[in-house]
Amino acid sequence: MTRLKLSFALLMGVATHAFAVEGMWQPHQLPAIEADLQRAGIDVDPKELADLTRYPMNAVISLGFCTASFVSPMGLVVTNHHCAYGSIQFNSSAERNLLRDGFLARTLGEELAGEPTLRVYVTESITEVSDQVMAALNPEQSGNERYAAIDAREKALVAECEAPGGYRCDVYVFHGGAQYFLVKQMEIRDVRLVYAPASAIGDFGGDVDNWIWPRHTGDFAFYRAYVGPDGKPADFSQANVPYRPKSHLKLQPAGLKPGDFAMIVGYPGRTNRYRWSAEVADAISWQYPRQIERHGRLLALIDEQTQGRADAAIKYASSVASLNNGLKNFQGNLDGFAKIDAVATKTAEERQILKWAKAHDQAAGIDGFNGLKELLAETRATRDRDLLLQLLGYSGMYTSARDLYRLAIEREKPDVERESGYQVRDEPRLQGRLLQLDRRFDPQVDRALLQYVLGDLIALPAEQRIAAVDRWVAGDAAEPTPELLAARLDAFYPQTRLSVSEERMKWFKSDRKAIEASDDPALVLIRALMPSLLEIERQTQDRQGRETRYRPAWMATRIAYAEAQGKQIYADANSSLRVTFGTVQGYGPSDAVSYKAFTDLNGILEKHTGTDPFDATAKQLEAIRAGEFGPYAVDGTVPVNLVADLDITGGNSGSPILNARAELVGLAFDMSYESIASGWLFNPALTRAIGVDVRYLLWVMDAVDGAHPLLEEMGVKPAFE
Ligand code: ARG
Repeated sequence: MTRLKLSFALLMGVATHAFAVEGMWQPHQLPAIEADLQRAGIDVDPKELADLTRYPMNAVISLGFCTASFVSPMGLVVTNHHCAYGSIQFNSSAERNLLRDGFLARTLGEELAGEPTLRVYVTESITEVSDQVMAALNPEQSGNERYAAIDAREKALVAECEAPGGYRCDVYVFHGGAQYFLVKQMEIRDVRLVYAPASAIGDFGGDVDNWIWPRHTGDFAFYRAYVGPDGKPADFSQANVPYRPKSHLKLQPAGLKPGDFAMIVGYPGRTNRYRWSAEVADAISWQYPRQIERHGRLLALIDEQTQGRADAAIKYASSVASLNNGLKNFQGNLDGFAKIDAVATKTAEERQILKWAKAHDQAAGIDGFNGLKELLAETRATRDRDLLLQLLGYSGMYTSARDLYRLAIEREKPDVERESGYQVRDEPRLQGRLLQLDRRFDPQVDRALLQYVLGDLIALPAEQRIAAVDRWVAGDAAEPTPELLAARLDAFYPQTRLSVSEERMKWFKSDRKAIEASDDPALVLIRALMPSLLEIERQTQDRQGRETRYRPAWMATRIAYAEAQGKQIYADANSSLRVTFGTVQGYGPSDAVSYKAFTDLNGILEKHTGTDPFDATAKQLEAIRAGEFGPYAVDGTVPVNLVADLDITGGNSGSPILNARAELVGLAFDMSYESIASGWLFNPALTRAIGVDVRYLLWVMDAVDGAHPLLEEMGVKPAFE
């Protein structure tokens, strides 16, 4: 009961005195919550954090899917091992397995190019553009018209912003469309892997310990950002030079202790804190259970198909890690929901706001709320189909064919009218994806994936089936069957040439006519499906257009309701830059159990079994047993991981954990299992971010891996040379 009440009070995303922990704040909001930051113990002027052109904000960067920071004047970048996993995997083979063994470049020349889509984004400015975007809207527009109007405004703003070159600009949507911000980021395209510890350190505990506290993972890795000799972003080239960032984070080797102030700056991906009760109910009754079932099946398939084939296993290592990560997250959500009765809590909260809205002339908000009901009913009607279409994305042949054909279709239009994702600005990324497929594709696995997903598509209830898929499978027969599908795929893989990189590049340069004339089975399949895919996209965009009418109206009422109580609201995570702050502290996950805030090296010895994923390297075991910890020692050991009551989510991975003076004292890499459902409903008692302690990072670099030049580059004098 107490917990329910606490959750309820905090549901609004409120910064209150007792619990300053919930909240992913946009930098410009920080001056407004200055008093809370000061009470929590911050030791820099909160206004400095609102200035993106100053330390520390200009040192915190995005990789697109993870957060990272500059840590030297020579463009050295620190992030998580699991964020660099794709690049480590990309550079690995059965003979040279960097995932297993780790990697350390002894010189700049030894650094390894990351995968072709790897980027570093340095945020330079964030400008509100709500008025410009919303000026295009009027109440008479249909969903599709609204979608198109917003899309056109966004594209115009982006094109203008990117015109000088070297920048990636994007319009980010807040509160479902109540606010729009244009974000301008320098896009660095030459990013190289510098150092990653062995998996036995960087992924110690693997999927067993993932999402779990207490933890002992050295989840860190280093990149370096390179630019052309003129200092501007450039494609990979030997002539490029290390980028000189405007600032870099200062390391504080003293670390933190229990009770200390801590904050995280980063790029959280997505939360659902303001979803309405029925959306939560659907997540519990349908979305998570179904995703668990389907992701589980994909994992089993990949496992079956890569047995005894080490090279194929490495090709899917990244997909397997992210599928496993998702699987545990989905179960964690369900387990978390079960404990807090999320639907009842959300329903009670909604009633209160609706009651207030009626009393305060908030008709638009109430209409918005009712509109969301209508949208949810529509999405339910095709949700099985839509999930399967999403899973088709795991097939490299399907995604390659789709991207190649769609690009050719879009290229027939003027650039500003091309679908986003297929504009001129997106072509390097598409090309990169097509190129890196060589290291991420195996025909046997791909075939099994297609058989599974297409097989389930043809087995859907009639209302959700895609006629074009049925026809492609059935051929001349009356009905599609699993046997006909198997026969199709038997012919498909030996015949398609899209498995060859040069062939994909050839089609990348071809026009629509050429693709439509091809008899490559992958292109034949996508040609058959494309009209249906485009129609489904049109329907989705129509819903999204209507959603931008309903959700912001409902959010405006929620914001007014909070403001009536003198409270600040933060927006759900949307991959844009946020700041969250709190305190280093443990928690009590269940009756009579109490977790401390730090783990240390002793826990590694305790967990070590010699079998993956608890197989610490001989070198590390020796270094621990030697008992010499130099300047990193605390009470005769070295702190390894820590927890703090910080509000983060996926996308925050790699984020710097900063002390009160905004110095680097750790890297966020996970959340505790008990926190997972906080993505929907924040629970202050149980929500904890998990980070690598800076002292463990330095000790591993110094005493285990001998990364002394990197330490010096970061201004730390090695103790174990
Ligand atoms: N749970 C972490 C996150 O979502 C990812 C950890 C990846 N490690 C793994 N063993 N799969 O950011």
